[in-house]
Amino acid sequence: MPEDRFSFGLWTVGWPARDAFGDATRPPLDPVETVHRLAELGAYGVTFHDDDLIPFGADEATREKLVGRFRTALDETGLVVPMATTNLFTHPVFKDGAFTSNDRTVRRFALRKVMRNIDLAAELGARTYVMWGGREGSESGAAKDIVAALDRFREAIDLMCEYVVDRGYDLRFALEPKPNEPRGDILLPTVGHALAFIAELARPDMVGVNPEVGHEEMAGLNIVHGVGQALWAGKLFHIDLNGQNGARFDQDLVFGHGNTRGAFFLVDLLEHGGYDGPRHFDFKPLRTEGPRGVWDSAAANMRTYLILRERVRAFRADPEVQAALAAAQVPELSVPTLAAGETLADLAADEFDPEVAGARECNVERLDQLALEHLLGTR
Ligand code: GCO
Ligand code: MN
Ligand code: MN
Ligand code: MN
Repeated sequence: MPEDRFSFGLWTVGWPARDAFGDATRPPLDPVETVHRLAELGAYGVTFHDDDLIPFGADEATREKLVGRFRTALDETGLVVPMATTNLFTHPVFKDGAFTSNDRTVRRFALRKVMRNIDLAAELGARTYVMWGGREGSESGAAKDIVAALDRFREAIDLMCEYVVDRGYDLRFALEPKPNEPRGDILLPTVGHALAFIAELARPDMVGVNPEVGHEEMAGLNIVHGVGQALWAGKLFHIDLNGQNGARFDQDLVFGHGNTRGAFFLVDLLEHGGYDGPRHFDFKPLRTEGPRGVWDSAAANMRTYLILRERVRAFRADPEVQAALAAAQVPELSVPTLAAGETLADLAADEFDPEVAGARECNVERLDQLALEHLLGTR
């Protein structure tokens, strides 16, 4: 239902399934059809790269026509555009990067491309603008000066913030980390790198992160920890939900069709951790599928999220779980280590027996099994 705030990128269901080894297995999908199908399935939002809607290099008349058709579809369905982004990776001009290309004229072109699509994003009511630097990176240790590249990356984000402020748009940026693919190594590879980078910006308040499940897992990291730290820092501006099986190429599976346990704990965090943004799916329907499989997979993302949401609610409401959480001392972690009014001298005077505390059981196994049984639907 729209109140569940599910959104999809045009490039997800619209992926014609061309990969590094094989041709497309599906015909192109008209964005207007996508908007109608997503609305029928109960989504509330659709997102896009500039080039998903308007082919690279299209003339002004074509642009007007395509944006007009898209806007009509939005009006007819009530679908909104919560987020937009820029394709800075497909055209050969970006082969050595966009904001961090060694070629200064390419960097300037990339900024113009972003400004243009920010105007469209704002016009369509988007509140978040995603920056995924897929080509910002290198394969060679010698051909990219990483410190200079980070200077140029920062310069680009600072300039785009300035642009948004100058134009008076109500728009924030969300940086999307990814460790590799298409570049051998991509700048800002994880949520942690992105958060540290944001602290160096001129307007850090305008910039947050857009973590993607599969991208953290490609780096062998725990997505719940990454998203948890982003939430803790007030920087979870958006999220890309999908599925991934461990450290390998970017699989972009349906949400939950990879590390399902991770998906369960992620939904628990999103539902109980104060995130109120879109539940955005960035997945790719399998290359084996035709049009039927495409819409099956779109529905599957939402259905899986809702099932997991129901399971985490049942988990939280189960009195045995509550007792097991207490037995594992989970609530105690929310109690500050020093009480109000206590001093470090009081702390120094504490009486404590490490042998006793060290012998105490943590009771994690029982709690973890209860979580798994809720996830499996056996409780
Ligand atoms: C990927 C990325 C992209 C970005 C998108 C937004 O395929 O690795 O996840 O899908 O999310 O380009 O800019
Ligand atoms: Mn991905
Ligand atoms: Mn991808
Ligand atoms: Mn993504």
